[in-house]
Amino acid sequence: MSMDGRTCVITGSARGIGRGIAEHLGEKGANVVINYRSSEGPALEAVDAIETAGGEAVTAQADVANRQEVEHMREVCHEAFGPADVLVNNAGITADEQFTEMTREEWDRVMDVNLGGMFNCTQEFFDDIWNAEEGRLINISSVVGKQGNFGQANYAAAKSGMFGFTRTIALELAKGGSTANCVAPGFTRTDMVESVPDQVLERIIAGIPLERLAEVEDIAAVVRFLASEESSYVTGEVIDVNGGMDL
Ligand code: NAI
Repeated sequence: MSMDGRTCVITGSARGIGRGIAEHLGEKGANVVINYRSSEGPALEAVDAIETAGGEAVTAQADVANRQEVEHMREVCHEAFGPADVLVNNAGITADEQFTEMTREEWDRVMDVNLGGMFNCTQEFFDDIWNAEEGRLINISSVVGKQGNFGQANYAAAKSGMFGFTRTIALELAKGGSTANCVAPGFTRTDMVESVPDQVLERIIAGIPLERLAEVEDIAAVVRFLASEESSYVTGEVIDVNGGMDL
């Protein structure tokens, strides 16, 4: 599954799942745009890792919730590599609170990044993906979007919203021959899960048939398939990568 010469923009890719996806695609020959929100150091490390593996990468600062900054990211991509073939909407945040305690600000913050960011990036890169040979939109949702999760009404609503968005964009891209799909990871070993208390984590793992958390490589491998030309007849789907959590 070579990604030779394909230009991939991955939001929130200085660490965690995004970085795993970026490195995986870069190692397969993709030109990668590493997006970061505020601190360039980790993004430069990701560029180094990709270049060491023989790929090409640049950094692009943008808060995905800020349209002007996303426009700048598109300009960086076009200058470095030309139009994007693949956009992975990966950047996401949580602001957990039991619903009765959840503030409107916590609700809005999660919507602004997880859904607003996806809106901004998809609209900025829509023409690129439409015009690409085998263009790809890949949205990183979550098992929480399917199952819900105590204390995550905002996050679950946002991640669930990604499903309807993806199916709709899949229809709107189809005439151009490009696809849109969602990946819904289960609990994955990253900084996002780092804050979950050990006891809760043990209970989560006990409920996973494969008896372990996902590693970023588990998610990246599926994204690579969806980003490749081999997935050209898969569109509007949600691919679960959760160790069998919903069996
Ligand atoms: P993480 O917190 O380790 O990484 C998220 C990245 O997104 C960070 O680099 C962060 O700086 C960036 N980011 C956050 N807000 C941003 C913004 N406004 N603009 C640009 N970048 C921004 O999280 P992780 O675990 O790597 O998650 C990646 C995606 O996968 C998220 O969408 C998350 O919701 C989803 N996910 C994670 C799971 C997990 O268990 N870790 C499970 C299911 C889904």
